Amino acid sequence: MLNKIALIGGGYIGGVLAQEIVQRGLAREIGLVDPAPLVNSADPVDRQQVARKQSVAKGKCLDIAEGLPTIGRDVRLVGSKDYSAIEGADLVINTAGVPRRARPDGTFPSREELLSVNLKVTSEVAEGIMRNCPDATIISIANPLDAIVYTLYKRLNCPRNKLMGMAGQLDSGRYRYFIADAAKISVENVSALVLGGHGDTMVPVRSSCQIAGIPVSKFLDDATLRAIEDRTRKAGGEIVGLLGFGSAFVSPAWAALEMAEALIHDKRKIVPVCAKLDGEYGVNGLFVGVPAILGKNGVEEIVQLDLTDAEKEAFANSVDDVRKTCDEVDRMMKNP
Ligand code: LAC
Repeated sequence: MLNKIALIGGGYIGGVLAQEIVQRGLAREIGLVDPAPLVNSADPVDRQQVARKQSVAKGKCLDIAEGLPTIGRDVRLVGSKDYSAIEGADLVINTAGVPRRARPDGTFPSREELLSVNLKVTSEVAEGIMRNCPDATIISIANPLDAIVYTLYKRLNCPRNKLMGMAGQLDSGRYRYFIADAAKISVENVSALVLGGHGDTMVPVRSSCQIAGIPVSKFLDDATLRAIEDRTRKAGGEIVGLLGFGSAFVSPAWAALEMAEALIHDKRKIVPVCAKLDGEYGVNGLFVGVPAILGKNGVEEIVQLDLTDAEKEAFANSVDDVRKTCDEVDRMMKNP
């Protein structure tokens, strides 16, 4: 159990995270920060006064705290509109930023289109971490995933083992679920990896996909697998289109907790994570989804896979997309 986990962002993912951390007994204290609702100086004074008294972070924390006696847990919950709530945390999970939302015509933005808005939020996140818990290990979930992790790295300049993004566990979970569903076999039997960036060019790695240790091609034909891999790449958008009000929140929270538990319990578990590459997979200085060993020191080792030629090409293509978004980050950081 950790002494304190900080949650930055009190939206849907932040809410599930807080609830699960309590239920799983992962920390003695949770600090949740979210500035909402913002006080808008253009609003009438009485409206500003109401907004000043309200706090999503405080409200969510109090709601959970009042349920603690029912489930028999002792956890301290600190919610605040400011970053003092995360002071002294050992682990930070960052969800701050706007999610993708369906437009009235049913279309929705790409994750990359969130960049300029979420980049500003990320600068505040980095500052809050620097001031309140500079030594914490960080798992970031906000989108565009790979570019936000890159931004945090640029701002914090922390060791690469202490900063990672959650995407591969979610994307692999989607791939595994679709395969289990099509093959009518337990999800527990399906292992698979999705690598590369957390965008529409992510790479479901068929050569790593097995059902109970048996290659997936023994169970499903090529056309079915292609359709599943295509659906996996677009699975985040499928949920955005269905929900209307935002993006997936339960599966991303569970995926981040899978990573958190590997760190907290020093499991040395191989999980696909967005980690900084220093030459691995032929990539330098970018954060990209790869299998990594997670333990008490964070990202302890990157695992290099033997990909097929087609998978290597798809991976390089996905890395190109990540590089383009990170170039955009560099440009925006130079000319804010
Ligand atoms: C998704 C978002 C959380 O893939 O990136 O659902």
